[in-house]
Amino acid sequence: MSKIWKEVLIGGSIAALFFLSQAGINVWPAVVAVGGFIFFYSFMPGRDLIGSKLGVGKPAASKITFMDIGGQEVAKRELKEALDFALNKERTAVLGIRPLKGILLSGPPGTGKTLLAKAAANYTGSAFLHASGSEFVEMYAGVGAKRIRDLFERARTLARENKKGAVVFIDEIEVLCGARGRHASHLEYDQTLNQLLVEMDGIGSNEEILVIGATNRIDILDPAVLRPGRFDRIVRVDLPDRDGRLHILKIHTQDKPLADDVDLSKLAKECYGFSGAHLESLVNEAAINAHRRNEKEISWQDFSDAQEKVMLGEKLDRKPPEEELKRVSVHEVGHALFGELEKPHSVSSVTIVPRGQALGFVRQSPAEDKYLYTKEELLEQIRVALAGAFSEELVFGSMSTGSQNDFSQASRLAKTMVMAGLSSLGIVAEELGQTEMNSEIMKIINEQGSFVREKIKPYKDFIQKIADYLLDKERIEGDRFRDLLERYLQYSEIDVSDLQTGSAGLQAAVS
Ligand SMILES: Nc1ncnc2c1ncn2[C@@H]1O[C@H](COP(=O)(O)OP(=O)(O)OP(=O)(O)O)[C@@H](O)[C@H]1O
Ligand SMILES: [Mg+2]
Repeated sequence: MSKIWKEVLIGGSIAALFFLSQAGINVWPAVVAVGGFIFFYSFMPGRDLIGSKLGVGKPAASKITFMDIGGQEVAKRELKEALDFALNKERTAVLGIRPLKGILLSGPPGTGKTLLAKAAANYTGSAFLHASGSEFVEMYAGVGAKRIRDLFERARTLARENKKGAVVFIDEIEVLCGARGRHASHLEYDQTLNQLLVEMDGIGSNEEILVIGATNRIDILDPAVLRPGRFDRIVRVDLPDRDGRLHILKIHTQDKPLADDVDLSKLAKECYGFSGAHLESLVNEAAINAHRRNEKEISWQDFSDAQEKVMLGEKLDRKPPEEELKRVSVHEVGHALFGELEKPHSVSSVTIVPRGQALGFVRQSPAEDKYLYTKEELLEQIRVALAGAFSEELVFGSMSTGSQNDFSQASRLAKTMVMAGLSSLGIVAEELGQTEMNSEIMKIINEQGSFVREKIKPYKDFIQKIADYLLDKERIEGDRFRDLLERYLQYSEIDVSDLQTGSAGLQAAVS
């Protein structure tokens, strides 16, 4: 019966009972009989008090395969292997391999965990039940545990019928498997978790059931869930590396018309730190940009704009006063200048279009993905962060509140240095005193600040000119910025004032 008819029937019955009771007829026997029926009905296997007939765990029908998932080669391999072990027992029995009972996918949001589980279902052709941690949470004690029991009961039945086994996928498993005793209403949570542990222990060697869990908070899971014999394998599904990003971009652009100037490997390089979900959204936003321009193909510019949108949010309508915009321009050019001086070829764009919290933005992309930073690299980043404020000081004689975020970032980086034993304090204990920590952070920042203040002085003219250009155009691409800087460096050796004549110098380059 469809949901709407159910609601009409329930509403109609209540109205009828009310009408009869108003007419002086005793309706209590009917109320008790119907209430009793619903109560006992809900305790029948496969039904529950709150949910409908199937309750938790829907058989999923998706067309996603491992081919649709970019990067994540390790996760794919581990998952395929676990599926082979769990569901092809004859082959593994030769070596006496115990089938795996559970596999836990853990990693940051949007990296493809849910996608991997869906692909797993199609890989084996086994029955696939999909549930989410929150579906087990109810305020009524015992309901969660019962839903777990029902879910596994159904998995067993399907595995027997299907012959190819069953996969139970529980997404967002941290809701269900948080460390016991932590919740205020912990009795209900603990019961549900205990039931899951019992069910996983109960998966016998002749039952072809594999449990796949997915979480992005592995740190809060109860240790009992993680021990071998329950989730035997913990597979890290991390942010994709450069090749992974390229693969994901290729997957999501395969059905989209791209202009000739779109270079996906360059895009993959620039999207450092993006998850699969970010990349999917990037491609979609780029296509929307092309649609807004009434174009038939997606251009590089569409991707560039989309990148900023995905990182910072939609462009804001607000129009700051001219004076403020000029300051933002000078500030951003300061960052870009230092970015280029410290790490040539790292700036990919500079803009003063306000988005989200940012008034302007310099996008830098590392030459390659990095997982470790040396002391010199951290100091470089601190200097780039401080350069915005110091270029304001150089041009306007004062700083502004626009540098607050930069200073927080610089102190975070300095703190990382101190904790990693890269400061003058040497290796430090974790519980380093707050005063000592602060004074060391200030020392690092002040030292770098003085360095930036000195080094930026000869570039005053350059900053002002590029800031004016930026004010006019709102955005400069990295290559253009480098070109202008190179010309400036060449001509400034002769005489900076020459540039104002507009012969072949910066003026020409800028206009
Ligand atoms: N590796 C990938 N390859 C292709 N597309 C991806 C990949 N990772 C993520 N995506 C895209 O991002 C979307 C979200 O991914 P998914 O739901 O699998 O993330 P998740 O890891 O489960 O995130 P969460 O932890 O927030 O649940 C997918 O629908 C897909 O479009
Ligand atoms: Mg997910």
